[in-house]
This record gives sequence, C-alpha cells and structure tokens, in this order.
Amino acid sequence: MSTTQHGTTSDITGTTTGSAGHPAPPDLPATGSAATGRAPAPRGRGRLDRRPVAWTADNVPDLAGRRAVVTGASAGLGRALAGRLGAAGADVVLVVRDEARGAVVRDALVAAGARGRVTVERADVADLDSVRALADRLDASGEPVDGLVHNAGTGAAERLVTAQGHEVMLATHALGPFLLSQRLLPHLERGSSPRVVTVGTGLHRLVRARLDVDDLEGERRYSPARAYVLTKLAGMVLAQQLDRRLAATGSRVRSVVAHPGVARTALQSSGTTRAERVVARVLSAAMGRDVEQSVLPILHAATADDVERDRLLGPGGPRERTHVVSERHVGDVADPAVGAALWDALDVLARR
Ligand SMILES: NC(=O)c1ccc[n+]([C@@H]2O[C@H](COP(=O)([O-])OP(=O)(O)OC[C@H]3O[C@@H](n4cnc5c(N)ncnc54)[C@H](OP(=O)(O)O)[C@@H]3O)[C@@H](O)[C@H]2O)c1
Repeated sequence: MSTTQHGTTSDITGTTTGSAGHPAPPDLPATGSAATGRAPAPRGRGRLDRRPVAWTADNVPDLAGRRAVVTGASAGLGRALAGRLGAAGADVVLVVRDEARGAVVRDALVAAGARGRVTVERADVADLDSVRALADRLDASGEPVDGLVHNAGTGAAERLVTAQGHEVMLATHALGPFLLSQRLLPHLERGSSPRVVTVGTGLHRLVRARLDVDDLEGERRYSPARAYVLTKLAGMVLAQQLDRRLAATGSRVRSVVAHPGVARTALQSSGTTRAERVVARVLSAAMGRDVEQSVLPILHAATADDVERDRLLGPGGPRERTHVVSERHVGDVADPAVGAALWDALDVLARR
C-alpha cells in the first residue's frame, strides 16, 4: 500500500481525434461485422488467459483513514461493498438516489460495526446536473478520495431519457461515471493507492457485443436487453480508456474493472417481460451466487494494492477454487481506437 504522496495531476480531460470506421450496431447475439470489416469480439475461455488471483477477503487491509465513494449503495452489491469497506475501517460515502433509504443503510452498516464514518450523499448518477452537484459537495469537503466505485446500475423496460435527454442506461453506466471520474480526479490524485473501480459484466463476451459509437443513445436501434449489454460494455470501454489516459500522464490513479458474475440481487431478477423475468429467476437460482460472495471481485478491485490493470476481474468457478480470477480484456474493451472514439463521443454528450 503506498503511503500518501502527492502525484502529478493528470490531464486526462482533453479529447482525441476520433478513430474512423465505427462499427455497425451489434446484434444480440452479435453476427460479426461483415459490413464494417471488424471481426466479432472473441469468445471462449481459451483465449481469455484466465488465471486465479491469490486473494481472499482476509487480505483486505486496514482501511482506516481512507475514503471510498460508492454509487448505487442503497441495495445489492453496492450496499454489500460499502459494508465490507466500512468494516475494514474506511470512511464510506454512500451515493444513493433516495436519502431516506440511504439513511437506513447507513444505520445498518454502523450497527453492523462499520469502523469508519459512513455518510449519505443523494445523487442520481444518470442526471448530469445531479452528478455535478455531488462533485461540488465532495469538492467542498476538500478531503482526498482513495476509491471511487461506479456500481450504480439499472435496467429499463423501455427507452427512457434523463433530464438532459440522454438514454437512461447510457447515462447511468457510462455518461455519469465519465463526468464523476473526471470531477473527482484531483481528489483521487491525493489519495492512498487511489483507484476508480467500474462494476462491469461478463455478458459482453457471451454475446460478442460491439459498441456503435455513432448510436450510443440507441436512437436508431433499441431494445432494453441490447441497451443494457451495450451500455455496460460502454462503461467498461470507458474504464479501460481512462486507465490508458491515466497511465499516459503518469498518474498514480488506476482504473480497474470487476464484475460479479451472476449475483442474486433485485437487478438480476428484473426483466422487461414476464418471460424474461422467469428466465432471469431460473438463471439466478441455477447459477447465481449470493451477494456477499458475488461482491468479492469488486472488493478485491477496490482494496488490493497489487490489483492488476488491464484485466477483467471476476468470480472464480469451482475449478479454480478461488474467489477471484483475472482475464484478458477482449473485443472493444481491449481496443484503444474504440476507447478513444467512445471518450470523444461521451465528451460531446456530457456537454449537452
Ligand atoms: N446482479 C448481477 O448478476 C450483476 C451482474 C453483472 C453486473 N452487475 C452490475 O452490478 C451493479 C450493481 O447491481 P446489483 O445487482 O447490485 O443491482 P441492484 O440490487 O438493483 O442495485 C442497483 C443499485 O444501483 C442504484 N442505482 C440505479 N440507478 C441509479 C442512478 N441513476 N443513480 C444512483 N444510483 C442508481 C440503485 O438505487 P435505487 O435503490 O435508488 O434503485 C441500487 O442501489 C450494477 O452496475 C450491475 O449492472 C450485476
């Protein structure tokens, strides 16, 4: 664990010229990309360079004096992560949409033995004004941030737009995190072993999803399931691009991606149609892990000093006999040209 040292303040905010030739919208499952000349995203375990990570929850260090900001902390994985971080001594900022629910979670974490300060901040991460107001309040406190966890996630039964007119899943999974990471970066630069953690998914690999950077908002083509996968993919591409930019400027801040596998949470049992809900429930019952187990790859990403960059951290299976495995990023997440194009596109959207 590095001690607090003042690092370079990264200039990661500049845009790059976008790469041309962005892909046609992916299908679910993707059909490849004959029209664009881009190969479908790779599939298959053999190519993922999957390796167990020697880590257990007992390896979480004493986090006293560190501050973690966790979005979507009112329920599910965010709440579980906040509990683990608080128990290890971190000061935890619970970012929630509903302040009363946040207060209930805060009281529960304190009653369960959180050693650090647990505070509640109301913010809707899909609403860019709300994100700006949250960042202003965190600015005003003047305290360093050691970890920022983009955990908030949502599904939607139909195409919904935010106050700024952005498709709600894109705003939740990519646009809000894009803005919040940049606004909190000066505070992260002063943090101890600082990092941004993005909670992603493994779904993009299963369906070999490809981003359509020219239609991020799903204006030309939309279905709820497709939008969920593609916006989660956008969040991961963004996280990896942020990491490239941080590394290029010599920043001490890392940006890492972790996913929970199939976790038995409200999100997992949601669906837009009755049939989807039934399938989700069956899958969740058959393959799902409980929340406390599912959160471990995210806890590892948020706390391990030697967390690997450039890798997707996820749950280990029975074969690996470990809680965390790391895999090579594939497809768009591994493609710097897609990362640069997405960054530029989000930069434009965030100004709207
Ligand atoms: N469950 C799984 O199997 C699974 C698999 C892969 C990835 N994930 C990812 O894991 C993360 C956590 O999901 P979960 O399974 O724990 O789901 P969950 O139990 O439904 O929790 C989602 C959390 O996100 C919050 N949230 C949603 N939209 C928000 C917004 N605009 N602003 C602020 N907070 C918002 C929710 O707040 P409210 O209480 O106000 O709704 C809730 O606290 C998500 O990013 C999800 O995509 C989950």
